Amino acid sequence: CDFDLSLDVNGDCEVSLPDLVLTAENWLLLPETTIRIQENEPGFVFVDGTIDSNNAGFTGTGFANTFNQAGAYIEWRVGAPRAGSYDLQWRYANGVTTDRSGTVTVNGTPQVSGVNFSGTGTWTTWELSSKVTVQLQEGSNLIRLVGEVSGHGLANIGWMEVTGLAPQGVSH
Ligand code: GCU
Ligand code: CA
Repeated sequence: CDFDLSLDVNGDCEVSLPDLVLTAENWLLLPETTIRIQENEPGFVFVDGTIDSNNAGFTGTGFANTFNQAGAYIEWRVGAPRAGSYDLQWRYANGVTTDRSGTVTVNGTPQVSGVNFSGTGTWTTWELSSKVTVQLQEGSNLIRLVGEVSGHGLANIGWMEVTGLAPQGVSH
């Protein structure tokens, strides 16, 4: 069915110009949603390392394995219809006991550091990271997860999830 939502913005007790009429056609729904970006899907941009599939238990076609050095990173590109807060979470495996923590930068600016990717016991044991909140700008955002630990880089990363108002993986 068709519906209009009319707002008497100028307070003259009638709906006419210059009031606001939102029709079913121009109403933009921005539901709170979660998207999951696999290494072979729109939104995955780059791994400073390799896409591997030798350690079982991953989803999709594999996982992103950074080089084992501080500063090694993985990049995603996420579109946001409005500027605001979005939550990020990763599925990862870390077969060593060192916490391979990471820093999240958005469009080149560091926003969250010390994101924990602690040991999962084996390279085939996959766990979820904590969720971290970042601010995205309206439009396209380059999200980079950067390994902080010298001689280690990041844990193996299976996917990233983004939760907020209608985020989208952006391919290009
Ligand atoms: C092992 C494992 C890799 C992992 C690497 C590391 O080689 O198979 O998937 O990335 O250790 O220490 O980072
Ligand atoms: Ca590695």
